[in-house]
Amino acid sequence: MIGIIGGTGSEGKALAVRLASIGDEVIIGSRDEAKAKAVAENIRSKSSKFKIKGMSNFNAAQNSELVIITVPYNSQKNILNEIKSELANKIVINTVVPLIFKNSKVFLSSVTDGSAALEAKNILTNSFVIAAFQTISSDQLIDLEVKVTSDVIVCGDDLISKRSVAELINRMNGLRAIDAGSLYNSIYIENLTCLLVNINKVNKVNSAVQITGI
Ligand SMILES: NC(=O)c1ccc[n+]([C@@H]2O[C@H](COP(=O)([O-])OP(=O)(O)OC[C@H]3O[C@@H](n4cnc5c(N)ncnc54)[C@H](OP(=O)(O)O)[C@@H]3O)[C@@H](O)[C@H]2O)c1
Repeated sequence: MIGIIGGTGSEGKALAVRLASIGDEVIIGSRDEAKAKAVAENIRSKSSKFKIKGMSNFNAAQNSELVIITVPYNSQKNILNEIKSELANKIVINTVVPLIFKNSKVFLSSVTDGSAALEAKNILTNSFVIAAFQTISSDQLIDLEVKVTSDVIVCGDDLISKRSVAELINRMNGLRAIDAGSLYNSIYIENLTCLLVNINKVNKVNSAVQITGI
């Protein structure tokens, strides 16, 4: 079971659809259980094969073996502290990028811990935090007609968890996991994501990355 915290938003729904489409069981989490159930129902209506439920963020974390965080950066600290007990000994994939949208421009907020993923690790001291999925736009993932052929840069400090997340990514049609080393390198992924969002704005596209030579 894969729980998505903040799963009612663009990124959460997109990952839910992709994961459900490869047969994984998904729980959409939300601060509002009714909203989570409605979003799950809406996704389920796209295919009777999708196994997807909606719950509060806390229950989603409690009932999942693997949890994905898809909340805006400014809410990350609060929500992680609220559900921390339910994430112990679990793999937590962090997709969060501390972007600031101001005057039609996009910047990266400076984070005391270095990156949103490192901040998550410092809160979730008993979990295996892996950074992934930041560089792919939800607009691409949500549409199953679109064959997404992007690399997903993955970093984390626990090798077994990182391998397990890479296997999950490689099962998602078209995606390829690239091991980028320790969680410290999430600093560079988050910076790269900010650059991609700026490229998207300038060129009115959904850009992503493909690493060559590997
Ligand atoms: N969108 C993308 O293309 C994309 C791509 C890669 C990474 N990301 C990252 O994924 C994260 C989510 O992005 P998004 O575009 O999906 O954002 P979003 O739609 O604005 O928000 C996602 C969900 O977060 C929950 N949320 C909002 N404020 C909250 C708060 N104060 N406390 C707790 N939960 C709150 C909401 O769920 P409820 O109201 O149901 O609780 C909302 O549906 C961001 O950190 C972003 O950097 C996004």
